[in-house]
Amino acid sequence: MLVYFNGKIRNKDEVRISPDDRGFVFGDGVYEVILSYKGRLFRAGAHFERLRRSLKELRIRDPELKVLRNVADKLIHENHLDQKIATVYIQISRGAAPRKHFFPAENTPVSVYAAASPFDPPEEEWKQGTSVILLPDNRWLRCDIKSTSLLPNVMACQQAKEAGAKEAVFIRDGAVTEGSHSSFAAVFKGTLHTCPESHYILPGITRQLVLKLCPEMNIPVSLYPIQESHLQNADECMLLGTTTEVMPVVRINEQQVGDGRPGPVTRRLQQALRKMIRGE
Ligand SMILES: Cc1ncc(COP(=O)(O)O)c(C=O)c1O
Repeated sequence: MLVYFNGKIRNKDEVRISPDDRGFVFGDGVYEVILSYKGRLFRAGAHFERLRRSLKELRIRDPELKVLRNVADKLIHENHLDQKIATVYIQISRGAAPRKHFFPAENTPVSVYAAASPFDPPEEEWKQGTSVILLPDNRWLRCDIKSTSLLPNVMACQQAKEAGAKEAVFIRDGAVTEGSHSSFAAVFKGTLHTCPESHYILPGITRQLVLKLCPEMNIPVSLYPIQESHLQNADECMLLGTTTEVMPVVRINEQQVGDGRPGPVTRRLQQALRKMIRGE
């Protein structure tokens, strides 16, 4: 498998990352995941813009993102993924330096890694819907930054897995924020509700796209936090994300959502997004 590391495309086995790398030591880095459908990166501009913002917020030097855009295309091509569904993962850390909490010297090069991998879409789950559990949102207060420091997300997702669920959905101050690796939305009487943008959630590219699609499809939108106590009245619930796309949620904490089957608004949004990604 060919990957990109610090300026060169090379075999994955040849990549050597220092044990002093701040990504390894502190989780001091940012990342992006972009979907590639038959060689075409979906919403690449929005992903690179979010990457630029994450770097800026954490004051990590910008490693020429224009170059990385070409690298992403090259990785898809060189790994023979042009005719497949794939993901491109990009990670940038603050570089390698002796372990000190404060930033390393100005001239410390950032570490840049990118890889493309085949992606197996969860077709059956998209059809049948999935289940989630609710957990307290114990993450930091800058969830808007796509940082590689993901321990609370990792712990929550593992807890969901052990409970036989697909995703953990976080609750902060009695309201839903988002999933451990997805955005969350619910439908009440035909209106799509989702948490407004703030430091409590990642500005999901899929969420943004769905919010743009809704008015075009005559689906009203409400950007107020969904109270946990109201969730049981939701007619439909869904997860949103780059690889999750529009995933119907049919069970929350073992309780059925609506009639236990993916609802009509979810289905319409699922189809609309699918069409955009696959150009169907
Ligand atoms: C915490 C979190 N929220 C939301 C999302 C969905 O974002 P996007 O639609 O940009 O993939 C992700 C994706 O990984 C995520 O990790």
